[in-house]
Amino acid sequence: MAELLVGQVLRFAGDPMVEGPGAARHDARGAVLVAGGRIAAVGDPAALRAAHPRARVTDYGDALISAGFVDAHVHYPQTAIIASWGKRLIDWLNLYTFPEEMRFADPAYAAAVAERFFDLMLAQGTTTVCSYCTIHPESVDAFFTAAQARGLRALAGKTCMDRNAPEGLRDTAQSAHDDSARLLAKWHGVDRLSYVFTPRFSPTSSPEQLEALGALWAAHPDCLMQTHLSEQMDEIAWVRGLYPQARDYLDTYESFGLLGPNAVYGHAIHLEPRERDRLREAGAALVHCPTSNSFIGSGLFDMAGLVAEGQRVGLATDIGGGSSFSMLRTMAAAYEVAQLRGHALHPAQLWWLATQGAARALRLDDRIGNIAPGMEADLVVVDLASTPVIAQAAARAGDLWQALFPTIMMGDDRAIRAVWAGGRRLAG
Ligand code: GUN
Ligand code: ZN
Repeated sequence: MAELLVGQVLRFAGDPMVEGPGAARHDARGAVLVAGGRIAAVGDPAALRAAHPRARVTDYGDALISAGFVDAHVHYPQTAIIASWGKRLIDWLNLYTFPEEMRFADPAYAAAVAERFFDLMLAQGTTTVCSYCTIHPESVDAFFTAAQARGLRALAGKTCMDRNAPEGLRDTAQSAHDDSARLLAKWHGVDRLSYVFTPRFSPTSSPEQLEALGALWAAHPDCLMQTHLSEQMDEIAWVRGLYPQARDYLDTYESFGLLGPNAVYGHAIHLEPRERDRLREAGAALVHCPTSNSFIGSGLFDMAGLVAEGQRVGLATDIGGGSSFSMLRTMAAAYEVAQLRGHALHPAQLWWLATQGAARALRLDDRIGNIAPGMEADLVVVDLASTPVIAQAAARAGDLWQALFPTIMMGDDRAIRAVWAGGRRLAG
């Protein structure tokens, strides 16, 4: 049955990072027609009702209908260790992350966390994530099984690491290659699921492992490859010691074939000019993880500079280095980081980064992250007056952006009125 969702509607006709807020389209009273899992039409509520009299109507009043949020970089196995105190990247990995990831050898534990993770994400209005798993193939099965059961578009891969990690959390160059190939064959393209090659980062992969994964990616160039790049200064110094022949951090990937248009690099904060040039030439994506960058003390992402030079940038929580599951909170953190760099991101830009921009970083912007006929019907309905303090701020607003910004800065799961994925109502 067709569904007609009525409310305020926000969508994008262009890229507001380049064109400014004029790239957004806002209907104060609009409607979205959903049929067969896709968006069939967008327009005037009365006209769409008249044209589709059998569609079931849900009127969300003043709430804002948007594309569901897209989180372009997360670690679902770190769900339980979010908000772990007091460490910077390398110690944080060793003290909190690796012991927790070890537990995913148990398929029952992996399944339980995957279920909890998707429930938490959907409660925040996030309908697509691109996740790291652990070295255990079972952790990938758990992730995709939970996503599939909810009808979500989801991306993930087995995290590959064969050194500088504890016993029990290391694979080998050969097993990483073979397990990744097997999981790709099992899950890639099944329903709405995509497999992503996932070497964790250069410090935990031997050159042999990076080479093996580079060869596998070359055989499947349509797949994404995700990893971490230049997150923290100590990490960069470590990479220099481990790969003395490399020109810079990016070169540890580039020299093994792990740079290309379908590469997705998390963090990318402390980049050298050569790295920026090569990233842009290759058409790779950079994913900004602002709550993580503050929480682990990594640094301030150069959003304005990277966008100005033509880099493809997305936004993400980086759970559990990130300190919130909410893309609203993540937009707020991106705003604050940009402010610290002397640049005010517009609400239209923040919203775009959390939807269409993140989808574009994952090369999915033709399917998700926007409201337009033919796009998959992954939607979030946002209450712009979800708490007394947000309501009083929004009541003073003169336009959509002033009404939306208090929710960006102060909103949480209470603002998420409804979530639709693949044309099905999952909540609200
Ligand atoms: N670098 C390598 N692994 C990780 C991780 O799990 N989280 C973050 N934030 N950075 C990393
Ligand atoms: Zn990460």
